[in-house]
Amino acid sequence: MIDRHGRKVTYLRLSVTELCNLRCRYCMPEDGIDKKHHDEMLTEDEMIRAVEVAASLGVNKLRITGGEPLLKKNILSICRRAAAVPGIREVCMTTNGMRLPELAKPLREAGVRRLNLSIDTLDEKKFAHITRVGKLSDFMDGLHAALDAGFDKIKLNAVLIGGFNDDEIVPLAELTRKYPVDMRFIELMPMTGNPEFGEQAYVPCSAVLEALPEAAPVDHDGGVATLYRLPGAQGNIGLIRPLSAHFCAECNRMRLTADGKLKPCLHSADEYPIKGLDFDGMKAVFEQAILGKPERHGELDATHMSEAGRSMNRIGG
Ligand code: GTP
Ligand code: 5AD
Ligand code: SF4
Repeated sequence: MIDRHGRKVTYLRLSVTELCNLRCRYCMPEDGIDKKHHDEMLTEDEMIRAVEVAASLGVNKLRITGGEPLLKKNILSICRRAAAVPGIREVCMTTNGMRLPELAKPLREAGVRRLNLSIDTLDEKKFAHITRVGKLSDFMDGLHAALDAGFDKIKLNAVLIGGFNDDEIVPLAELTRKYPVDMRFIELMPMTGNPEFGEQAYVPCSAVLEALPEAAPVDHDGGVATLYRLPGAQGNIGLIRPLSAHFCAECNRMRLTADGKLKPCLHSADEYPIKGLDFDGMKAVFEQAILGKPERHGELDATHMSEAGRSMNRIGG
């Protein structure tokens, strides 16, 4: 389906849980979040119905997100059923990787084709600091399990934070020489849940190109990142620049939260509830939400917070 601004919606991001086993400082409050009552969250059948509705409106790519999607007990069943929905060409997942040692293979077998993994630093102490509770070695085990499981594509995401990891651009980028992965740097988005970052934390992605003078531009793959490649690398370097160059004009996505709210834009508080609706009811709300998709989000920088109205773990990135 095409929205009022001529954009074709082909991509749904489905958040299957708000819960996470990490507490990344830019994403989640320290004490986590209150566990919601079961009745407020979408059931597996409702999630699959939503995917069927989305596919009937032209969505062909599904990304499963969280919180941390691999904490969801029925995640393999959700993936398997979603991958079998007619019209869905690709099921992908964004995960922190902690549970991949046991789940990478079963996920691949359940039909997940691509994985995006979050890795902000290669320093053990800094990893423990930014995630508040995580271990870098668990991430590395997860990455190796994912590489062994034969996914079509693995992308790594680092949120670029001034004074934290802007001195690690080169070693992070070098991962594209060591492994067949893309390494993407994301500008920190100011969310209401992450007030601890001062102005110096908002580093533009141009810093990545300054640190990697040998990176050469390559063709866009249809995603939100602008792509480059280092000589001899197996994967691309990506820049995701929601602050310094927003990509709203090419936005092809809708989001569905774990508590059943359709969000036409990451940085808008507009939400369209679909919990409890049958196929036709959901379809009508999906159509309204697509028609309600704003042309672009408001200003975003150190002094202009996102208007999302939720922390990232409750949206799914
Ligand atoms: P593919 O292009 O399918 O590989 O994935 P993706 O980049 O859309 O997904 P991922 O979950 O890895 O997200 C990477 C970063 O991009 C996260 O920080 C997301 O919050 C951000 N992002 C994804 N979609 C949007 C969007 O529509 N707007 C903005 N501002 N940021 C987005
Ligand atoms: N700014 C930028 N990226 C973020 N993510 C989570 N919170 C933020 C934020 N405030 C990223 C995670 C993960 C993806 C789903 O979203 O690092 O890679
Ligand atoms: Fe969890 Fe991902 Fe948020 Fe980190 S960024 S706390 S891994 S949901």
